[in-house]
Amino acid sequence: MNEESKQGGVGDGFLCSTESPEETVALGRNLGKLLKAGDLVCLFGELGAGKTCLARGLVQGMGAVEQAVTSPSFIMVNHYRGRFPIYHIDLYRLDTVADAEDIGLRDYLSDDGVALLEWASRIESDLPQDRLDIFLSHISDTEREIRLVIRGKRHRDMAAEIAAAWEIDGI
Ligand SMILES: Nc1ncnc2c1ncn2[C@@H]1O[C@H](COP(=O)(O)OP(=O)(O)OP(=O)(O)O)[C@@H](O)[C@H]1O
Ligand SMILES: [Mg+2]
Repeated sequence: MNEESKQGGVGDGFLCSTESPEETVALGRNLGKLLKAGDLVCLFGELGAGKTCLARGLVQGMGAVEQAVTSPSFIMVNHYRGRFPIYHIDLYRLDTVADAEDIGLRDYLSDDGVALLEWASRIESDLPQDRLDIFLSHISDTEREIRLVIRGKRHRDMAAEIAAAWEIDGI
C-alpha cells in the first residue's frame, strides 16, 4: 500500500478477495447495511473489475432490494430509493471537471443520500476528503481483490463496524 492510500491512517483499511460475482454482491450487501445518509463511496478499478457488481450489493444493502441495478454508463446517474436516496454515478465518459459541474455532481454529494461513484479516478483531485474508497482488481477470471480505505473522520466508526461485521482485521 502506498503512502497516499494510507491517508486514512493505519487500521482504516481492509483487504479481501472474492471468488465469484455473487460473492462480490454479497460483500457489497454487507457493507451497504453499514452506510448512512451523507456517505460517499468511490469505486476504483479497470474495466470489468466489478465496480457495478459491488454497487449492486451496496444498493441492496441500503434497502433498495427490489430495484435492478444496472450500469449508469450512458446516462451517468441512476437513482434508487433505499433507506435514503441512492445516487449511482458513472464517470467513465467524463472528460473534464467542467463536465462534473455540468451533471451537477455536487448536488449528489449531499447529506440526504449516499453517492456511489464509479470511475471516481476521473475527478480524484476534486473528491471530498471524507469518503470510503474501494479499489477492485482482477486476480483471475473469477477472482477479484477488493481493498477498502476509509478516509476522514466521518468514516472512522465504520472501520470498527466493518471489522466486527466481517470478522476481518484491518490493514
Ligand atoms: N469475483 C468477481 N466479482 C465481480 N465480478 C466478477 C467476479 N468474477 C467475475 N466477474 C465478472 O466480471 C464482470 C464485472 O463487471 P462490472 O460491470 O461489475 O465491472 P465494472 O468494474 O463496473 O466495469 P466498467 O468499468 O465497465 O463499468 C462481470 O461480467 C462479472 O460477472
Ligand atoms: Mg461499471
